[in-house]
Amino acid sequence: MKKTLLLSISLLIVFITIANEGMWIPMLLTKYKFADMQKKGFKLTADDIYSINQASMKDAIVLFGRGCTGELVSDQGLLLTNHHCGYGSIQSYSTIEHDYLRDGFWAKNKTDELSNPKLTVTFLVRMDDVTTHILTNVTENLTQEQRNLIISKNIAKLKKENSENNKYNVEIKPFYYGNEYYMFIYEVFRDVRLVGAPPSAVGKFGGDTDNWMWPRHTGDFSVFRIYANKDNEPADYSPNNVPYKPKRFFPISLKGVQKDDFTMVYGFPGHTQEYIPSFVIKLITEVENPIQIKLREIRLAIMNEDMNSNQTIRIQYSSKYAGVANYWKKWLGENRGLKRLDAINKKEEFEKSFQNWANNTSQAKNNYSNLLNEYKVVCEKLRPLSKIDAYLFEGIMTGEMVRFARNFGDYKSWQTKTDSTLNPVFATIKGRAKDMYKDFNLSTDQKMFSIMLKIYYDSISSNYQPEILKIWSKKYKGDWNKCVADISNKTMFTSEDKINLFLNNYKINGTKTLEKDPIFTLWSAISDMYNQKVLPIVTTYNNKIDSLNRIYMKAQMKFESDKIFYPDANLTLRVTYGKISDYSPKDGVSYNWFTTLDGIIEKDDSTIYDYDVPARLKELWENKDYGNYAENGVMNVCFIGTNHTTGGNSGSPVINGNGELIGINFDRNWEGTMSDIMYDPAQCRNITLDIRYVLFIIDKFAGAKNLVDEMVISK
Ligand code: ARG
Ligand code: GLU
Repeated sequence: MKKTLLLSISLLIVFITIANEGMWIPMLLTKYKFADMQKKGFKLTADDIYSINQASMKDAIVLFGRGCTGELVSDQGLLLTNHHCGYGSIQSYSTIEHDYLRDGFWAKNKTDELSNPKLTVTFLVRMDDVTTHILTNVTENLTQEQRNLIISKNIAKLKKENSENNKYNVEIKPFYYGNEYYMFIYEVFRDVRLVGAPPSAVGKFGGDTDNWMWPRHTGDFSVFRIYANKDNEPADYSPNNVPYKPKRFFPISLKGVQKDDFTMVYGFPGHTQEYIPSFVIKLITEVENPIQIKLREIRLAIMNEDMNSNQTIRIQYSSKYAGVANYWKKWLGENRGLKRLDAINKKEEFEKSFQNWANNTSQAKNNYSNLLNEYKVVCEKLRPLSKIDAYLFEGIMTGEMVRFARNFGDYKSWQTKTDSTLNPVFATIKGRAKDMYKDFNLSTDQKMFSIMLKIYYDSISSNYQPEILKIWSKKYKGDWNKCVADISNKTMFTSEDKINLFLNNYKINGTKTLEKDPIFTLWSAISDMYNQKVLPIVTTYNNKIDSLNRIYMKAQMKFESDKIFYPDANLTLRVTYGKISDYSPKDGVSYNWFTTLDGIIEKDDSTIYDYDVPARLKELWENKDYGNYAENGVMNVCFIGTNHTTGGNSGSPVINGNGELIGINFDRNWEGTMSDIMYDPAQCRNITLDIRYVLFIIDKFAGAKNLVDEMVISK
């Protein structure tokens, strides 16, 4: 009796732990999870989520840019995403005279909407399981290199067959580490215009202080519009384009949500690694994350100081700063979360029983009994190389000047080229220089760069030092500030003008200037060292790991044959679902599941940049002027749920059981950021911006009621 009770309790725990974990392939929902979704409160059909025969929710969702999600909310191509996803675009239009980042931007009418030459949105037309096509002629005894070669040929062939003369973008991606392959047919729209953005004091309220944290009060949204040609097809920007008519858009619910309500998030999660062994987690938590955290901390402090001293620098660096700060904080949280969850031990326990199975199951014995051992050996070999990688790519190579030098990496081939082939190359470089130097402050870059040089020099063994660093270290007696000041006087990479001058005089002077340039010399020396000493080894090990991952994944699926496995995120469209839920971050503390405008007022402090509440917002709060967006006189701002999300899910629609939009996903909580590696149902929460606050800001705060009028509010 006692035994069975214990058994059922432990079964229950297993069941609970997998309850809300997972990012599911929309096409396969009925196969795996749809019945469970219905049980938990989803009231529409699976065809409403994904269908190729009728308009479905997927037709109202886009990959926004290259790493966010957005959703359509009107029949005129109106689209919502996060403020931090539109940030680059808002920033690119910001100047001291009209600082849209600081003050917000609202197009009065369609002609005021701002085009964004580099921004695209991508719709999924359909997806297919193409595993058998891609694995044709792939046999088990191939090396990973041979396997890759055949697979890439098969991919190229299938891509060609399905692009319909380049009307569509075709992508074929591995799932379950190459045990399955899916093809995605995408339609990419290239004319996407900025319609509106709240001021940073709303859209980025709480800034990096509150980032990755709950409780949260950030109005993290921005508004765009997709334009198409007169046939409703993708087109380059043109004043003659017209608002895109989507097959489907989301109706909006103003009814609000309650604790335990069903929620679903539908978007493009970027990258998770849920099935890796303990040794990889160790590599991440002991080598990669700590170095990356340390190096970013240093850069952040320097940028912060310069941004605070000068508004131009603030505008130039705010987007870069946000990017650096974001993952800095994520890695900190991830390391803490994994530790608290005892992730390495948990994985080791799992590996023990896996090993046991592999040793004792006749069919597994030959194939899998040495797998974990091999994996462990490769990870140990990778350790020192990961360290070099981190110090290079989070260190020296974050210097914007040295990074720009890469554009000249091919210069030797230029000598044999004709004007007509060279001119477009130079035009591209000039374009990039224009983009980069617009937001470049020499002394900020110098400060960061000299510290990164020093740290690399001090931390990495002599064998992996580019020769030039050794020379400089001697010449400047370890004074890296002096070194950087000196080489800055001699390089052309300090300004756009100098780079243009070089390119314009290239015919007369040839490459002499470049070859004498100290920054270019450094770049070449680093790439030579890396290509000779690091890359070949890393490539071999990575191939090995690819192969081990594939086999280990397959083995895990056999070992736990009753479990439903979801594939790791890979920036393809996924459904995740859960419920509105509070949590307890630590002993004696419990967090509510929603926040309100009252909380924004509580945080108000005009002396702290991140908490300076705009006067207009205070006025609306004082007058309780909330339109019909409040609930019992209270203006809700954010809420949390148990949906399993990750980077890329930013901007994703958060949907209720009736398929209506209730919010915009924008973050996770600090205690739950380890969910990319291990999910903990007790601690992992996604953070959603309540759609009612979005409409309140648009309508009441910004006076852009016209936009709300375009939307369909379900009563
Ligand atoms: N943490 C969120 C995400 O991963 C928001 C990032 C933008 N905000 C910021 N303060 N940097 O993207
Ligand atoms: N802010 C993240 C993004 O840009 C989403 C948060 C997360 O990683 O879950 O995609």
